[in-house]
Amino acid sequence: MEITAEIKDRLSLLQEKYAAMGQDITAYLDGLLYADYLTYWDYIHLDTLLSLQHPKTSYPDEEIFIMYHQITELYFKLALHECRQISANTSLTPDFFASRLKRINAYFTALVSSFDIMVDGMDKEQFLKFRMSLLPASGFQSAQYRMIEIYSTDLIQLVTLSKREQLKHATPAEQFENIYWKYGASELSTGKQTLTLQQFIVKYAGQLLQLAQNNIDHNFSSLYKTLLRRGEDMSAVEAELRKLDLFVNVEWPLSHYKSAVRYLERDPVDIAATGGTNWQKYLPPRFQKRIFYPYLWTEEQIEQWGKSWVMNVLKAYRT
Ligand code: HEM
Repeated sequence: MEITAEIKDRLSLLQEKYAAMGQDITAYLDGLLYADYLTYWDYIHLDTLLSLQHPKTSYPDEEIFIMYHQITELYFKLALHECRQISANTSLTPDFFASRLKRINAYFTALVSSFDIMVDGMDKEQFLKFRMSLLPASGFQSAQYRMIEIYSTDLIQLVTLSKREQLKHATPAEQFENIYWKYGASELSTGKQTLTLQQFIVKYAGQLLQLAQNNIDHNFSSLYKTLLRRGEDMSAVEAELRKLDLFVNVEWPLSHYKSAVRYLERDPVDIAATGGTNWQKYLPPRFQKRIFYPYLWTEEQIEQWGKSWVMNVLKAYRT
């Protein structure tokens, strides 16, 4: 085959590139010569990915439970990838902000619409058995989920509802001490923190507080207000922030709550399967009223936060 002018051109560009770093191009051409062709399976580490499912029991549906959690964590990772790009951008524009929020919302659309894989996709009898072998582990211990929240808003919005007003001017450390999830995964009878929650705090509390402190001026709510003060047109960002608020604080929690109702509510094993926690009071969005951007909603919308949805969910599964 002829060495065309185009190839010669590429070679001289390559030579310039390597010469600039004091490198000899021939050694790198040898590298190309000896290297294997890249395959799909090596590039995405498919064998490793498919080897990460290790059920603790022999109930076949446990694999569905593991894989769907893994899929969710990968979507959370995609969302965090965009969170970091927004928060670290030193010349943030409304266009960039809105386009990255759109991506995060696309991931949550996928998560919400696929949650039926959990709600209807496992045999209840199998679930109630294999779930017992997994205690005290719980999706409650998903640190990525908590990080998405921290990137999304001011720490005060994540404080438990009954203390939100009172801790408005408190330090980040005091607010973090009263973050809403410290009131979940607690024993139903005594209110004591379960081992699930205690272990999560030991492993992640320091890291999460640090993230919140680093993001005081760079979480989405702060960044929105900064750009607004600068006189930018924030309408596209506002629309995406509203969607994000509903996805993270109403739609995903409700899809997830549906699965808790389906598997845990009607059965007497209910209490045992969660280690006897307060989940029925804790999980529904209407009790928690976690809202990232209250200033983007009307008083009535805030009042109705999550309400009609919860009633429909319960109606569907109590019959
Ligand atoms: C059949 C499926 C599921 C059931 C029955 C279920 C049940 C529960 C329960 C009862 C809680 C409350 C914590 C407690 O009281 O111990 C919880 C929390 C949680 N679960 Fe699940 N879960 C399921 C699937 C998932 C999946 C697939 C994920 C994805 C990562 C997940 C992530 C979470 C998160 C992030 C929390 C904390 C929610 C919050 O703090 O508001 N769960 N789950």
